[in-house]
Amino acid sequence: MGKVVILNHPLIDHKMAKIRNKETDTKTFRENVNEISALMAYEITRDLVTHTVEVETPLAKTHCKMLKNQVVLVPILRAGLGMVEGIQSLIPTAKVGHLGLYRDEKTLLPHIYYAKFPKEVKGSTVLLLDPMLATGGTVVESIRVLKEQGVTDIRYVGIVGCPEGVAMLEKHFPEIDIYLAAMDEKLNDLGYIVPGLGDCGDRLFGTK
Ligand code: URA
Repeated sequence: MGKVVILNHPLIDHKMAKIRNKETDTKTFRENVNEISALMAYEITRDLVTHTVEVETPLAKTHCKMLKNQVVLVPILRAGLGMVEGIQSLIPTAKVGHLGLYRDEKTLLPHIYYAKFPKEVKGSTVLLLDPMLATGGTVVESIRVLKEQGVTDIRYVGIVGCPEGVAMLEKHFPEIDIYLAAMDEKLNDLGYIVPGLGDCGDRLFGTK
């Protein structure tokens, strides 16, 4: 069974207050989403596997540890893009795949319209990025696509979740670890998380 981890940390909470505030401007919103993502990545990667390498310092040879597996960030378009730079600031060697999905107007089911991954995605640790875990439908479909690619280490990283989204993920993929900066009360009838922060994509890209 995967874990559900709510990353309680005073620095994350402080930045959450900024992005939840409806008065926060686009630039500040974007900066804080990136900073929250970076702080989250530090914790999420705590158990990454390392291997020993020999390094020669100016004084002597010594043994050091380096990451064993490739890390791949997979933002779900478009709001997931807002988390990439922050995580790359901690893991500059991370490669980036992209996933785009649209919702069928009749069935309301998510469908993939764009998927591009680095070729070594199969053996890598994938951080699947989507800031809002609302109904969970998009994330479930994305995990299905990643599994089709043969990925076995998938960690979902979101900023705000709600019980409905977590339940949906756990129902379809109980083995997946879920990392969130905050767990909110509920989904409203329009599919927004309450209290949430509004439409994350619009607030990141200034489209409203
Ligand atoms: N997507 C968002 O951007 N915000 C929500 O509250 C739910 C889904």
